[in-house]
Amino acid sequence: MRLLPRSLRYRIAATIFALEAVVLTAVIWQATGFARDATARQIEEMERVTLGLLGGPAREALLTEEYDRFQPYVEQLLRDPHVVRVLLADESGRVVAASDARLVGEVMPALTADGDSYWRTVALANAAGPLGTLAVEFSAGPLARIHAQARNLGIGIGLSGMAVIAVVGVTFGMLLTRRLERVAAAAEAMSRGERGRRSGVRGDDEVGALGAAFDDMAERLEADRRALEEARAALEARVRARTAQLERTNRELESFVSAVSHDLRAPLRAVQGFSEALIEDHAAALPDEAREYLERMRAAAERMSQLVEDLLLLSRVSRSQLERTPVDLSRMAGELLAELRAADPEREVEARVAPGIEADADPRLLRVLLENLLRNAWKFTRGRAPARIEVSLEREDGEACVCVRDNGAGFDPRYAHKLFQPFQRLHSAQEFEGSGVGLSTVQRIVHMHGGRVWAEGREGEGARFCFTLGPQALRLRDPSGREGRG
Ligand SMILES: Nc1ncnc2c1ncn2[C@@H]1O[C@H](COP(=O)(O)OP(=O)(O)O)[C@@H](O)[C@H]1O
Ligand SMILES: [Mg+2]
Repeated sequence: MRLLPRSLRYRIAATIFALEAVVLTAVIWQATGFARDATARQIEEMERVTLGLLGGPAREALLTEEYDRFQPYVEQLLRDPHVVRVLLADESGRVVAASDARLVGEVMPALTADGDSYWRTVALANAAGPLGTLAVEFSAGPLARIHAQARNLGIGIGLSGMAVIAVVGVTFGMLLTRRLERVAAAAEAMSRGERGRRSGVRGDDEVGALGAAFDDMAERLEADRRALEEARAALEARVRARTAQLERTNRELESFVSAVSHDLRAPLRAVQGFSEALIEDHAAALPDEAREYLERMRAAAERMSQLVEDLLLLSRVSRSQLERTPVDLSRMAGELLAELRAADPEREVEARVAPGIEADADPRLLRVLLENLLRNAWKFTRGRAPARIEVSLEREDGEACVCVRDNGAGFDPRYAHKLFQPFQRLHSAQEFEGSGVGLSTVQRIVHMHGGRVWAEGREGEGARFCFTLGPQALRLRDPSGREGRG
């Protein structure tokens, strides 16, 4: 539960009010008590004087027993509205004179005070001994009235005092907090994004210092922000320039590789052609050793020509524009496997392609990608009987991917990441021919599609190559589909 209102202004006012109310109540309480006691003492003094004045005639009446002479004093006293009754009793306690004539001759009654009145008595005596008692009953009304008046006056002064203090407190609180509120409003506006907003509060006191400090801080914050903004813009410009430069260099390098590869083709073809011609036309004239050297030259020239073709393909792939369309990946893989089988009919290969895999991809590039993976699987299962090659749609980390799995030579998984770098090969050229450029081309194509590619394998136990082609690019068209059998 909240006792004080949220606003600082009202908290100050309420605190002042509460403090002043306590002090005021205490002061008024003291003052009215003091006034009350003073009047009470005054009344008592008056009563004592009255009794003292009456003492003389009373004593005389008792000595002379001429009680009638005392009666006028009684009458006189009764005129005072404070006086209710007067009794004079002799030494034996018998009433000898009274305001009420019926009491004369009776025994002195008990002088009990009730709420409305009280008794004052005086014992009368002379040198010979006690003479009697004089008793006057006074009304309590005047004292009660004075008490009530003092109380009302106190309450009145208290209430009006508190009202004045409430007004003064609120006004004071307002004066004190108005400037604070301006600082708070400026802070709030700044947090909403009004960056140019300042409090404008100044002065020699703490609030003035706060306002100045706040404005100063806002100024510096704004300056820092501007500096940061400028730095960011400069950095962006630099990154753009660097990227452009890198792209330019990359393009130059690619066109260099492309040009070199292209220019290598013609001399290579000459080497190949002449070595073949030599073998065909002059083999008989050559010694065995020379024929073997020639044969090696021809094989080397062929390998080099394959390498040049692979490099040209890689650079063509890199420079080509990506055009995505829906492609029946299962059908494409099936066709490629059929081509491999036709070129190598004596191999015994069990190939399985999951039906209905559909890809949003560039069909030309996707064919190059699949051909490289399938050709590798075909190549590295050489010597396996039966060789098994499988193409399937799978799921990795919630993402669809296509995997090509085989039961071939496999590789040491420690070097799996190296396979995608150009010219990196884990098998010897004698065992498995190749240039080492194929998987770089695969990776390039996958990256162009915004996907990723990875390899898993174990030496002698086969390999698995998987790739994605960017978000939602791979799906199963129809799980029970009839197409796509490889
Ligand atoms: N299916 C596979 N099984 C085992 N090793 C593979 C397979 N595919 C690729 N590799 C390894 O990755 C290397 C690089 O492959 P790639 O770039 O296609 O070059 P290449 O096929 O010309 O050797 C291969 O030399 C081989 O060591
Ligand atoms: Mg290859």
